[in-house]
Amino acid sequence: MDWGMHNRMSRIFKEDGRTVMLAVDHGYFLGAVSRLEEPGKTIAPLIPYVDSLMITRGILRNCVEAAGGIPVVLRVSGGNSILGDDLSNEGIMVSIQEAIRLNVSAVALSIYVGSKYEHQTLTNLAKLIDQAQDYGIPVLAVTAVGKELAKRDAHYLSLSCRIAAELGAQIVKTYYCEDFEKVVKSCPVPLVIAGGPKLKKEEDALEMAYSALSCGAKGVDMGRNIWQSRWPIAMVSAIRQIVHDKATAKKACDLFHHLQNNPKPAK
Ligand code: R5P
Repeated sequence: MDWGMHNRMSRIFKEDGRTVMLAVDHGYFLGAVSRLEEPGKTIAPLIPYVDSLMITRGILRNCVEAAGGIPVVLRVSGGNSILGDDLSNEGIMVSIQEAIRLNVSAVALSIYVGSKYEHQTLTNLAKLIDQAQDYGIPVLAVTAVGKELAKRDAHYLSLSCRIAAELGAQIVKTYYCEDFEKVVKSCPVPLVIAGGPKLKKEEDALEMAYSALSCGAKGVDMGRNIWQSRWPIAMVSAIRQIVHDKATAKKACDLFHHLQNNPKPAK
């Protein structure tokens, strides 16, 4: 691997080969989603607990301290909204020069396999990889499902993840599902999981993260199940324990309950 590519990958994946990414890019098609209405207030207290931020350039420029040094995974696809006909109708919205200017560690783009705009989103991915490769910037492909959450099974996700890797993505972000080890086995690049919509109980999200890591995922790129929790710092601390300390779900739940009752002072 080229030095620059290697250097950027190691900003995201720590020495243990694992990562806790905080996803806060939801506004690119959802607008001011609940608990992310004032992004800076939600993001700042969580930065000390995560390895990178997945974020759009607008929120990065306006709401994140440039001198802070948190590695950035920049969301570069978009052009859709929750009100539009089809969420899969995405293009590349940020130039590679802008990504370099922002000193990002990776760029991220969604693919929608099996959708009306499948070809367009896969072509977007291939073009982005060609551009980013010239500068040693890793590309994270998100296997998006839009509003069709029921698509999230091992057969579909394995197909999407493998296509993303075949096209050259260095990192793939997908959903956890039953038989997740099949998805991991058939994808030759590191997989991280999204959390999806906020689950009823924090314990369920911790169980999901634990199961995904046990099946071979290299980390999480989680949003709503962290910052839509009433206890976001307790949640991110427990997730971190699963990812980097290889804690069981039970141990992480114990930490979460402890921090619920004894909140950490802000760092
Ligand atoms: C989609 O809105 C974004 O790509 C998110 O980054 C992704 O869905 C992960 O966030 P969450 O854990 O909230 O699903």
